[in-house]
Amino acid sequence: MIFSALSPLLRVPALSGLTQQALLKMDAETAHGATITALRLGLAPQQTHPDGAELRTSLCGLDLTNPVGMAAGFDKNAEVPRQLAQMGFGMVEIGTVTPRPQSGNPKPRLFRIAGAQGVINRMGFNNEGHAAAFARLKGLRVPAALGVNIGANKDSEDFVADYVAGVAKFAGLADYLTANISSPNTPGLRNLQADEALRRLLGEILAARAKARTRVPIFLKIAPDLDEAALDAIAKVVLATDLDGLIVANTTLSREAVAGLENATEAGGLSGRPLFELSTQKLAQVRLRVGDLPIIGVGGIHSPQSALAKVEAGANAIQLYSALVFGGLDLLDTIKRGLVAAVRAQGKTNIAQLVGSKATDWAAGKAAL
Ligand code: FNR
Repeated sequence: MIFSALSPLLRVPALSGLTQQALLKMDAETAHGATITALRLGLAPQQTHPDGAELRTSLCGLDLTNPVGMAAGFDKNAEVPRQLAQMGFGMVEIGTVTPRPQSGNPKPRLFRIAGAQGVINRMGFNNEGHAAAFARLKGLRVPAALGVNIGANKDSEDFVADYVAGVAKFAGLADYLTANISSPNTPGLRNLQADEALRRLLGEILAARAKARTRVPIFLKIAPDLDEAALDAIAKVVLATDLDGLIVANTTLSREAVAGLENATEAGGLSGRPLFELSTQKLAQVRLRVGDLPIIGVGGIHSPQSALAKVEAGANAIQLYSALVFGGLDLLDTIKRGLVAAVRAQGKTNIAQLVGSKATDWAAGKAAL
Protein backbone atom coordinates (compact mmCIF):
# COMPACT_ATOMS: atom_id res chain seq x y z
CA MET A 1 0.00 0.00 0.00
CA ILE A 2 2.73 2.34 0.93
CA PHE A 3 4.23 1.96 -2.47
CA SER A 4 1.09 2.79 -4.34
CA ALA A 5 0.57 5.73 -2.05
CA LEU A 6 4.00 7.04 -2.74
CA SER A 7 4.20 6.29 -6.39
CA PRO A 8 1.32 7.91 -8.15
CA LEU A 9 3.45 8.63 -11.14
CA LEU A 10 3.38 4.98 -11.95
CA ARG A 11 -0.36 4.99 -12.35
CA VAL A 12 0.00 5.67 -16.02
CA PRO A 13 -1.10 3.45 -18.87
CA ALA A 14 2.47 2.79 -19.93
CA LEU A 15 3.06 0.96 -16.67
CA SER A 16 0.69 -1.88 -16.22
CA GLY A 17 -0.52 -4.10 -13.42
CA LEU A 18 2.55 -6.26 -13.27
CA THR A 19 4.80 -3.36 -12.37
CA GLN A 20 2.24 -2.00 -9.98
CA GLN A 21 1.89 -5.36 -8.20
CA ALA A 22 5.62 -5.77 -7.85
CA LEU A 23 6.08 -2.25 -6.63
CA LEU A 24 3.29 -2.62 -4.10
CA LYS A 25 5.64 -4.83 -2.12
CA MET A 26 8.30 -2.16 -1.85
CA ASP A 27 8.72 0.29 0.97
CA ALA A 28 7.97 3.96 0.43
CA GLU A 29 11.44 5.15 -0.34
CA THR A 30 12.29 2.31 -2.72
CA ALA A 31 9.05 3.11 -4.48
CA HIS A 32 10.01 6.74 -4.79
CA GLY A 33 13.26 5.69 -6.40
CA ALA A 34 11.35 3.53 -8.84
CA THR A 35 9.10 6.46 -9.66
CA ILE A 36 12.09 8.62 -10.49
CA THR A 37 13.45 5.81 -12.64
CA ALA A 38 10.15 5.51 -14.50
CA LEU A 39 10.19 9.23 -15.17
CA ARG A 40 13.76 9.06 -16.36
CA LEU A 41 12.76 6.34 -18.78
CA GLY A 42 10.08 8.61 -20.22
CA LEU A 43 7.11 6.61 -18.94
CA ALA A 44 5.13 9.57 -17.64
CA PRO A 45 2.43 11.34 -19.62
CA GLN A 46 3.24 14.65 -21.26
CA GLN A 47 0.90 17.63 -21.33
CA THR A 48 -0.35 18.00 -24.87
CA HIS A 49 -2.38 21.22 -24.64
CA PRO A 50 -1.00 24.67 -23.73
CA ASP A 51 -1.99 26.22 -20.41
CA GLY A 52 -4.80 28.77 -20.44
CA ALA A 53 -3.91 32.45 -20.55
CA GLU A 54 -5.62 32.78 -17.13
CA LEU A 55 -2.70 30.92 -15.58
CA ARG A 56 0.16 32.83 -17.14
CA THR A 57 2.11 34.45 -14.33
CA SER A 58 5.19 36.55 -13.87
CA LEU A 59 7.26 35.73 -10.80
CA CYS A 60 10.36 37.83 -10.13
CA GLY A 61 10.68 38.40 -13.85
CA LEU A 62 10.22 34.72 -14.67
CA ASP A 63 7.43 34.01 -17.12
CA LEU A 64 5.51 30.96 -15.92
CA THR A 65 2.98 29.28 -18.20
CA ASN A 66 1.17 28.32 -15.00
CA PRO A 67 1.79 28.98 -11.30
CA VAL A 68 1.86 25.35 -10.12
CA GLY A 69 5.26 23.90 -9.27
CA MET A 70 6.82 20.68 -8.04
CA ALA A 71 8.17 21.34 -4.55
CA ALA A 72 11.71 20.54 -3.45
CA GLY A 73 12.46 17.08 -2.13
CA PHE A 74 10.84 15.09 -4.93
CA ASP A 75 13.77 15.34 -7.35
CA LYS A 76 16.63 15.86 -4.94
CA ASN A 77 19.35 15.08 -7.46
CA ALA A 78 18.02 16.81 -10.57
CA GLU A 79 17.33 13.56 -12.34
CA VAL A 80 13.99 14.42 -13.96
CA PRO A 81 13.34 18.18 -14.11
CA ARG A 82 12.68 18.08 -17.83
CA GLN A 83 10.18 15.24 -17.53
CA LEU A 84 8.35 17.05 -14.73
CA ALA A 85 8.16 20.21 -16.81
CA GLN A 86 6.80 18.23 -19.75
CA MET A 87 4.05 16.91 -17.50
CA GLY A 88 2.80 20.45 -17.07
CA PHE A 89 4.42 21.95 -13.99
CA GLY A 90 5.06 25.67 -14.43
CA MET A 91 8.15 25.38 -12.26
CA VAL A 92 10.28 22.54 -11.02
CA GLU A 93 12.47 22.88 -7.94
CA ILE A 94 15.26 20.33 -7.58
CA GLY A 95 17.17 19.66 -4.35
CA THR A 96 17.88 20.28 -1.61
CA VAL A 97 21.47 19.91 -2.75
CA THR A 98 24.40 20.31 -0.38
CA PRO A 99 28.01 20.98 -1.39
CA ARG A 100 29.19 17.45 -0.60
CA PRO A 101 27.19 14.25 -1.11
CA GLN A 102 25.63 12.86 2.06
CA SER A 103 23.58 9.79 2.79
CA GLY A 104 20.99 11.32 5.11
CA ASN A 105 19.40 9.64 8.11
CA PRO A 106 19.10 5.88 8.60
CA LYS A 107 16.11 4.16 6.95
CA PRO A 108 13.20 3.97 7.37
CA ARG A 109 12.84 7.75 7.20
CA LEU A 110 9.69 8.26 5.14
CA PHE A 111 6.24 7.44 6.49
CA ARG A 112 2.69 7.71 5.31
CA ILE A 113 -0.06 8.75 7.72
CA ALA A 114 -2.96 6.65 6.57
CA GLY A 115 -6.33 8.31 6.65
CA ALA A 116 -5.01 11.85 6.83
CA GLN A 117 -3.17 12.11 3.52
CA GLY A 118 -0.11 13.13 5.48
CA VAL A 119 3.56 12.26 5.15
CA ILE A 120 6.33 12.41 7.73
CA ASN A 121 9.90 12.49 6.52
CA ARG A 122 13.24 12.71 8.22
CA MET A 123 15.33 12.15 5.11
CA GLY A 124 18.07 14.52 6.31
CA PHE A 125 19.15 16.00 2.97
CA ASN A 126 20.22 12.75 1.35
CA ASN A 127 21.67 13.91 -1.95
CA GLU A 128 24.57 13.41 -4.35
CA GLY A 129 26.01 16.88 -3.84
CA HIS A 130 26.50 19.99 -5.97
CA ALA A 131 28.73 18.48 -8.62
CA ALA A 132 26.34 15.68 -9.53
CA ALA A 133 23.32 17.98 -9.82
CA PHE A 134 25.35 20.53 -11.75
CA ALA A 135 26.52 17.92 -14.24
CA ARG A 136 22.92 16.81 -14.88
CA LEU A 137 21.57 20.33 -15.29
CA LYS A 138 24.33 21.76 -17.44
CA GLY A 139 23.03 22.28 -20.95
CA LEU A 140 19.66 20.72 -20.11
CA ARG A 141 16.64 22.45 -21.62
CA VAL A 142 13.80 22.47 -19.10
CA PRO A 143 10.51 23.84 -20.47
CA ALA A 144 9.51 25.41 -17.12
CA ALA A 145 11.15 27.64 -14.54
CA LEU A 146 13.97 25.62 -13.00
CA GLY A 147 14.63 26.19 -9.32
CA VAL A 148 17.66 24.88 -7.48
CA ASN A 149 17.13 24.47 -3.75
CA ILE A 150 20.37 24.79 -1.78
CA GLY A 151 21.24 23.72 1.74
CA ALA A 152 24.07 22.87 4.10
CA ASN A 153 25.86 19.61 4.86
CA LYS A 154 24.97 18.18 8.26
CA ASP A 155 28.63 18.06 9.32
CA SER A 156 29.53 21.43 7.86
CA GLU A 157 31.62 23.70 10.05
CA ASP A 158 30.05 26.76 8.45
CA PHE A 159 26.45 26.50 7.25
CA VAL A 160 26.55 29.97 5.69
CA ALA A 161 29.56 29.04 3.56
CA ASP A 162 27.59 26.08 2.18
CA TYR A 163 24.80 28.40 0.96
CA VAL A 164 27.34 30.75 -0.54
CA ALA A 165 28.86 27.80 -2.38
CA GLY A 166 25.40 26.90 -3.66
CA VAL A 167 24.81 30.37 -5.04
CA ALA A 168 28.21 30.42 -6.70
CA LYS A 169 27.68 26.99 -8.26
CA PHE A 170 24.13 27.36 -9.56
CA ALA A 171 23.56 31.10 -10.17
CA GLY A 172 24.40 30.78 -13.84
CA LEU A 173 22.34 27.67 -14.38
CA ALA A 174 19.09 28.03 -12.45
CA ASP A 175 16.11 30.26 -13.21
CA TYR A 176 15.83 30.82 -9.46
CA LEU A 177 17.51 29.64 -6.28
CA THR A 178 15.95 28.73 -2.95
CA ALA A 179 17.89 28.97 0.27
CA ASN A 180 16.28 26.30 2.38
CA ILE A 181 16.84 27.10 6.05
CA SER A 182 13.74 25.34 7.31
CA SER A 183 14.30 21.61 7.11
CA PRO A 184 13.68 20.17 10.57
CA ASN A 185 15.99 17.25 9.83
CA THR A 186 19.39 18.94 9.90
CA PRO A 187 20.16 19.85 13.51
CA GLY A 188 20.68 23.59 13.96
CA LEU A 189 19.60 24.55 10.45
CA ARG A 190 16.41 26.32 11.51
CA ASN A 191 18.47 28.57 13.80
CA LEU A 192 19.41 30.44 10.61
CA GLN A 193 15.88 31.88 10.67
CA ALA A 194 16.71 33.88 13.81
CA ASP A 195 17.32 37.59 13.46
CA GLU A 196 21.10 38.07 13.53
CA ALA A 197 21.88 34.74 11.86
CA LEU A 198 19.43 35.51 9.05
CA ARG A 199 20.90 38.96 8.52
CA ARG A 200 24.36 37.46 8.11
CA LEU A 201 23.16 34.64 5.87
CA LEU A 202 21.25 36.90 3.50
CA GLY A 203 24.12 39.39 3.41
CA GLU A 204 26.55 36.70 2.33
CA ILE A 205 24.19 35.00 -0.10
CA LEU A 206 23.35 38.25 -1.84
CA ALA A 207 27.02 39.23 -1.94
CA ALA A 208 27.73 35.91 -3.64
CA ARG A 209 25.02 36.63 -6.19
CA ALA A 210 26.50 40.05 -6.87
CA LYS A 211 29.72 38.29 -7.86
CA ALA A 212 27.91 35.94 -10.25
CA ARG A 213 27.38 36.86 -13.89
CA THR A 214 23.59 36.77 -13.68
CA ARG A 215 21.19 38.26 -11.16
CA VAL A 216 19.33 35.05 -10.43
CA PRO A 217 16.23 35.53 -8.25
CA ILE A 218 16.71 34.09 -4.76
CA PHE A 219 13.93 32.85 -2.48
CA LEU A 220 14.15 31.99 1.21
CA LYS A 221 12.16 28.96 2.35
CA ILE A 222 10.86 29.21 5.89
CA ALA A 223 9.14 26.91 8.38
CA PRO A 224 5.46 26.96 9.30
CA ASP A 225 6.44 26.70 12.96
CA LEU A 226 7.34 30.37 13.40
CA ASP A 227 5.20 32.57 15.66
CA GLU A 228 4.10 36.08 14.73
CA ALA A 229 7.03 37.71 16.51
CA ALA A 230 9.45 35.56 14.51
CA LEU A 231 7.59 36.45 11.29
CA ASP A 232 7.88 40.14 12.20
CA ALA A 233 11.63 39.75 12.56
CA ILE A 234 12.03 37.79 9.32
CA ALA A 235 9.96 40.28 7.35
CA LYS A 236 12.00 43.15 8.70
CA VAL A 237 15.32 41.53 7.79
CA VAL A 238 14.11 40.40 4.37
CA LEU A 239 12.61 43.76 3.41
CA ALA A 240 15.90 45.46 4.23
CA THR A 241 17.64 43.35 1.54
CA ASP A 242 16.99 42.76 -2.12
CA LEU A 243 16.02 39.14 -1.61
CA ASP A 244 13.45 38.32 -4.28
CA GLY A 245 10.87 36.31 -2.39
CA LEU A 246 9.82 33.80 0.21
CA ILE A 247 8.60 30.22 0.09
CA VAL A 248 6.09 29.48 2.83
CA ALA A 249 6.42 26.78 4.03
CA ASN A 250 8.47 23.69 4.72
CA THR A 251 7.22 20.71 6.75
CA THR A 252 6.02 21.13 10.35
CA LEU A 253 7.16 19.65 13.64
CA SER A 254 3.60 20.00 14.94
CA ARG A 255 1.51 16.85 15.24
CA GLU A 256 -1.72 18.53 16.28
CA ALA A 257 -3.48 17.72 13.02
CA VAL A 258 -2.59 14.02 13.12
CA ALA A 259 -2.61 13.21 16.84
CA GLY A 260 -3.40 9.56 17.53
CA LEU A 261 -2.95 8.38 13.94
CA GLU A 262 -0.58 5.64 12.86
CA ASN A 263 3.01 6.87 12.38
CA ALA A 264 2.13 10.29 13.82
CA THR A 265 4.79 9.94 16.49
CA GLU A 266 7.60 9.35 14.00
CA ALA A 267 10.24 12.06 14.19
CA GLY A 268 10.58 14.41 11.23
CA GLY A 269 8.57 16.96 9.29
CA LEU A 270 4.88 16.54 8.57
CA SER A 271 3.54 17.48 5.15
CA GLY A 272 0.44 16.90 3.07
CA ARG A 273 -3.16 17.66 3.83
CA PRO A 274 -2.70 18.01 7.63
CA LEU A 275 -0.27 20.86 6.94
CA PHE A 276 -2.70 22.89 4.89
CA GLU A 277 -4.37 25.08 7.54
CA LEU A 278 -1.18 25.91 9.43
CA SER A 279 0.92 26.69 6.36
CA THR A 280 -1.85 28.75 4.76
CA GLN A 281 -2.35 30.83 7.88
CA LYS A 282 1.42 31.45 8.09
CA LEU A 283 1.50 32.35 4.41
CA ALA A 284 -1.24 34.94 4.93
CA GLN A 285 0.50 36.32 8.02
CA VAL A 286 3.68 36.70 5.98
CA ARG A 287 1.76 38.29 3.10
CA LEU A 288 0.38 40.96 5.42
CA ARG A 289 3.95 41.79 6.52
CA VAL A 290 5.79 41.96 3.19
CA GLY A 291 3.60 44.03 0.86
CA ASP A 292 3.82 42.68 -2.66
CA LEU A 293 7.04 40.70 -2.26
CA PRO A 294 6.67 37.48 -4.30
CA ILE A 295 5.67 34.45 -2.23
CA ILE A 296 5.44 30.83 -3.29
CA GLY A 297 2.81 29.07 -1.18
CA VAL A 298 3.43 25.42 -0.28
CA GLY A 299 1.90 23.02 2.20
CA GLY A 300 -1.00 20.64 1.99
CA ILE A 301 -2.39 21.60 -1.40
CA HIS A 302 -4.52 18.62 -2.38
CA SER A 303 -7.37 19.95 -4.54
CA PRO A 304 -8.35 22.89 -6.77
CA GLN A 305 -10.05 24.51 -3.76
CA SER A 306 -6.95 24.31 -1.60
CA ALA A 307 -4.80 25.61 -4.47
CA LEU A 308 -7.13 28.57 -4.91
CA ALA A 309 -7.12 29.20 -1.15
CA LYS A 310 -3.31 29.41 -1.18
CA VAL A 311 -3.48 32.07 -3.87
CA GLU A 312 -6.20 34.00 -2.05
CA ALA A 313 -4.14 33.80 1.15
CA GLY A 314 -1.31 35.53 -0.67
CA ALA A 315 0.67 33.16 -2.89
CA ASN A 316 1.84 34.39 -6.30
CA ALA A 317 2.66 30.81 -7.21
CA ILE A 318 2.20 27.46 -5.49
CA GLN A 319 4.04 24.17 -5.13
CA LEU A 320 3.02 20.73 -4.00
CA TYR A 321 4.51 17.33 -3.34
CA SER A 322 2.75 15.11 -0.80
CA ALA A 323 -0.70 15.20 -2.41
CA LEU A 324 0.75 13.79 -5.62
CA VAL A 325 1.70 10.83 -3.51
CA PHE A 326 -1.96 10.20 -2.74
CA GLY A 327 -3.81 11.75 -5.64
CA GLY A 328 -1.61 10.83 -8.57
CA LEU A 329 -0.41 13.11 -11.27
CA ASP A 330 -3.89 13.73 -12.56
CA LEU A 331 -4.12 16.13 -9.66
CA LEU A 332 -1.88 18.61 -11.44
CA ASP A 333 -4.30 18.92 -14.32
CA THR A 334 -7.31 18.98 -12.01
CA ILE A 335 -5.78 21.84 -10.02
CA LYS A 336 -4.93 23.84 -13.11
CA ARG A 337 -8.40 23.42 -14.54
CA GLY A 338 -9.89 24.40 -11.20
CA LEU A 339 -7.80 27.55 -11.06
CA VAL A 340 -8.87 28.59 -14.55
CA ALA A 341 -12.51 28.06 -13.57
CA ALA A 342 -12.03 30.09 -10.38
CA VAL A 343 -10.50 33.01 -12.27
CA ARG A 344 -13.48 33.06 -14.64
CA ALA A 345 -16.05 32.57 -11.87
CA GLN A 346 -14.69 35.64 -10.08
CA GLY A 347 -15.02 37.71 -13.24
CA LYS A 348 -11.26 38.09 -13.66
CA THR A 349 -8.91 37.35 -16.52
CA ASN A 350 -5.77 36.19 -14.72
CA ILE A 351 -4.83 34.32 -11.56
CA ALA A 352 -2.63 37.22 -10.45
CA GLN A 353 -5.81 39.22 -9.79
CA LEU A 354 -6.76 36.81 -6.98
CA VAL A 355 -3.50 36.96 -5.05
CA GLY A 356 -4.04 37.90 -1.41
CA SER A 357 -7.75 38.67 -1.77
CA LYS A 358 -8.47 36.78 1.48
CA ALA A 359 -5.15 37.28 3.26
CA THR A 360 -6.69 39.09 6.20
CA ASP A 361 -9.18 36.31 6.90
CA TRP A 362 -6.60 33.54 6.51
CA ALA A 363 -4.12 35.37 8.73
CA ALA A 364 -6.71 35.72 11.48
CA GLY A 365 -7.77 32.10 11.30
CA LYS A 366 -11.21 33.14 10.03
CA ALA A 367 -11.01 31.37 6.69
CA ALA A 368 -11.33 27.68 5.99
CA LEU A 369 -11.66 25.42 3.00
C1 FNR B 1 10.27 17.51 1.45
N1 FNR B 1 10.42 18.89 1.45
C2 FNR B 1 11.67 19.43 1.19
N2 FNR B 1 11.83 20.79 1.11
C3 FNR B 1 13.04 21.33 0.84
O1 FNR B 1 13.14 22.55 0.78
N3 FNR B 1 14.12 20.53 0.61
C4 FNR B 1 14.04 19.17 0.65
O2 FNR B 1 15.02 18.48 0.41
C5 FNR B 1 12.78 18.59 0.96
N4 FNR B 1 12.64 17.23 1.04
C6 FNR B 1 11.38 16.66 1.24
C7 FNR B 1 11.24 15.29 1.21
C8 FNR B 1 9.98 14.72 1.38
C9 FNR B 1 9.85 13.23 1.33
C10 FNR B 1 8.85 15.56 1.56
C11 FNR B 1 7.46 14.96 1.73
C12 FNR B 1 9.00 16.92 1.59
C13 FNR B 1 9.31 19.79 1.77
C14 FNR B 1 8.44 20.10 0.57
O3 FNR B 1 9.17 20.80 -0.43
C15 FNR B 1 7.23 20.97 0.98
O4 FNR B 1 7.69 22.20 1.49
C16 FNR B 1 6.36 20.28 2.02
O5 FNR B 1 6.30 18.89 1.79
C17 FNR B 1 4.95 20.84 2.04
O6 FNR B 1 4.30 20.65 0.82
P1 FNR B 1 3.28 19.42 0.56
O7 FNR B 1 4.13 18.19 0.49
O8 FNR B 1 2.36 19.39 1.74
O9 FNR B 1 2.62 19.72 -0.73
